[in-house]
Amino acid sequence: MGGIFAFVCKDPMDLSIINKSLRKLIYRGYDSAGIAYLKDGDLVIKKIVGNISKNEINVSDKARVAIGHTRYASRGWPTLENAHPLTDCNGKIAVVMDGILDDYEKIRDDLITKGHKFVSTTDTEIIPHLLENSEDYLNSSLIVLKRVRGIYSLAFITIGADKIFAINSGQPLMIGITPECKYVSSDLPSLSGIAENAIIVPENTIAVISWNEVKVYNIEGNEVKPEIKRVKYKEEIAEKGGFPHFMLKEIYDIPQALINSFNSLMEKYLSLASMIVYGAKNVYIIGNGTSLHAGFISSYYFSEISLNVNVVSAAEFPYYALKNVTTGSVIIAISQSGETSDVIRSIKMAKQRGAVILGITNSVGSRLALESNVYLPITAGPEMAVPATKTFTSTIVVLKVLSLYTGLHSGKNDRSEISSLKSEIEELAKQLMVRLPEMEKEAEKLAPKLDKESLYISSSGINYPIALEGALKFKEASMTHAEGIQLGELLHGPIVLTNKGYPVILIKPVEAEDLYNKVIRSIKERGDVIVTVAEDGDMKSIKATRDLTPISNVIPLHLLAYKLGVRKGLPIDTPPGLVKAVIV
Ligand code: F6R
Repeated sequence: MGGIFAFVCKDPMDLSIINKSLRKLIYRGYDSAGIAYLKDGDLVIKKIVGNISKNEINVSDKARVAIGHTRYASRGWPTLENAHPLTDCNGKIAVVMDGILDDYEKIRDDLITKGHKFVSTTDTEIIPHLLENSEDYLNSSLIVLKRVRGIYSLAFITIGADKIFAINSGQPLMIGITPECKYVSSDLPSLSGIAENAIIVPENTIAVISWNEVKVYNIEGNEVKPEIKRVKYKEEIAEKGGFPHFMLKEIYDIPQALINSFNSLMEKYLSLASMIVYGAKNVYIIGNGTSLHAGFISSYYFSEISLNVNVVSAAEFPYYALKNVTTGSVIIAISQSGETSDVIRSIKMAKQRGAVILGITNSVGSRLALESNVYLPITAGPEMAVPATKTFTSTIVVLKVLSLYTGLHSGKNDRSEISSLKSEIEELAKQLMVRLPEMEKEAEKLAPKLDKESLYISSSGINYPIALEGALKFKEASMTHAEGIQLGELLHGPIVLTNKGYPVILIKPVEAEDLYNKVIRSIKERGDVIVTVAEDGDMKSIKATRDLTPISNVIPLHLLAYKLGVRKGLPIDTPPGLVKAVIV
């Protein structure tokens, strides 16, 4: 899998735009990269092994047609041979792909029997070989779309055609539109500053793209007319803006993102979404990782309005929860990328059983947005670091607002609570803007204390999911094993390991203050290392109302995990072997 960026222009364009744009896509893969372009009737290919944000592809040339790729090695090692673009036997067609193919081994064996020569161990390489039998590339693309199973999108160029051909079979693909050029990309943010209008290529279609025209065909080969949308991202949003890492920059983005997320939720969609939830026979909230943790927090919000929701990992959902999904069930599916395969698979299964899908995603045009009956945008802005930060805090805002609107239908809430929430969010954001630099310094000072083999993070009530989320951030950003644990449970055995030097980070809970003090005493009596996160703690969180404490408490944990990663000299934004959207 990986990130695709390509262009076709009226006049030759500097290829440096591909290097620059691929750098915006490294969250999709960063172990090798490559470019292919047409020059004097030939196909030129350049590749590198390594992260394109550190190591440019050396091309000081111009072209009218070019494709580029940054790769995450899911099938085949990160070598030069396996880097995209990959070509056919005659070196005439160059293909870049994002995604994975299911049945490639069988097809590959079949092609080898027919005399095709393979040079890589990737699944992608079957594509140029499947395409090379005919020069009617629309027709051969249709054959690929019908024959090759998997979740993927791809783009290819070929000698003799000033066009890009693109196939979408389930992975995101956008076409940026300007009068003189058309651009193909795996996401919308990478088009910022390049194109203001874009087509989100629909699933199961083929796009044939010239500099002055885009034609899209469905699997039957009939032309379809997808909508042209405005691209709203501003260029600087996808840049580091002077910060050493995207993760730190995105933590500093949190205050503004909280406000944007609240303000971007539209009354008509909130009314519809909350009505759906209110009228549900049963409600399941699904997501993975950070999004699952946001889902856990929302269960505390929904319980305030006496609504029992089932929060289930999207990876586990098909194995037991699905059995109880029928017409009348509602699935709230959370995925900041909107592409995570566990989520997409689960909602497809739930839809087949008659459920209504309410998506919550940061990615307009994602598969989750397209598959949902209604979706609420997270509007945190593009998040480049693999460890999710601002998308998490903004998802919490969306879920809190959804719960408030749902409570309006049952009479548990009134509208004044919505305006109070707005003021509380604004106040929290204001305080954060002032306090973040100080919190960053506190985290830097405390990080050495946490530089151990393993640690616990613990809290209770609505902040227990924050212990889970904090532990996930420590694993990703600082490669430190961490376990999130309920405060009371710490005393039932796990505390025994603290005298092995495992530090404990305690997040002061809202409700269980006595228990919190008791745990502090027990740990201190044992002489073990403790770091508290509280308004008056070692890491000082911002004062917030109960429902916003998960936001104020998670930020100190983000910063601690980040600073520990810096101390260890780790590639924080791109932890080894991890990508932002897990589609495997
Ligand atoms: C954590 C992280 C992952 C994702 C998870 C789900 O920092 O980034 O745990 O939260 O893979 O991703 P989405 O929300 O895109 O479905």
